[in-house]
Amino acid sequence: MKRMIFATGNAGKMKEIRSIMEDTCREILSMKEAGISIEAEENGKTYEENALIKARAVAHHTPDPVLADDSGLEIDFLNGEPGVYSARYLGEDTPYSIKNAELIRRLEGVPDEKRTARFVCAIAAVLPDGREITVRDTIEGLIGYEEKGGNGFGYDPIFYVPELGKTTAELTEEEKNQVSHRGKALRLMKEELKNL
Ligand code: IMP
Repeated sequence: MKRMIFATGNAGKMKEIRSIMEDTCREILSMKEAGISIEAEENGKTYEENALIKARAVAHHTPDPVLADDSGLEIDFLNGEPGVYSARYLGEDTPYSIKNAELIRRLEGVPDEKRTARFVCAIAAVLPDGREITVRDTIEGLIGYEEKGGNGFGYDPIFYVPELGKTTAELTEEEKNQVSHRGKALRLMKEELKNL
């Protein structure tokens, strides 16, 4: 594959997708680099639907294959909240220090074994011939009792990975990409694209 567009404006995601996909695709452009500026309303009920909404919207503006992702945090004790609404939980512009503190508060008194959670990532591809592919992967963890670590973003400081003995905010970027929902989903998508 010569060229593809990744439907995001997030520089961190672009870096990650480039490092994982570089041997599959020669040129990977962000929407901005491809000169596409659209805002798709992510009103799907699943991560896959939202990723497809974004990828389809961008695919209307380019002959190249388009990839898009959607992700979120699911906390079992909260029946899967914040889930697909992770970015909008307590308001899109609310600082994550407040969102994280609120989630810790809602889990007050909940023991370790009931603090299970996962980050989920779906990636969609819309190909020039109209074919659509979706993949999904996760990373399992526990919601911590306090914020820990200064790396990453969003809910990383409260997402503790027992096997690593650290939150995802305590991992380096490379370490996180090895184990994260997004890293794993990107590698699944890479395999799908190779098999076309
Ligand atoms: P997006 O679909 O990648 O924009 O992610 C939606 C939301 O899920 C983000 O705004 C974060 O709140 C949360 N999220 C997704 N992935 C991660 C992660 O790796 N660390 C922390 N929070 C995440």
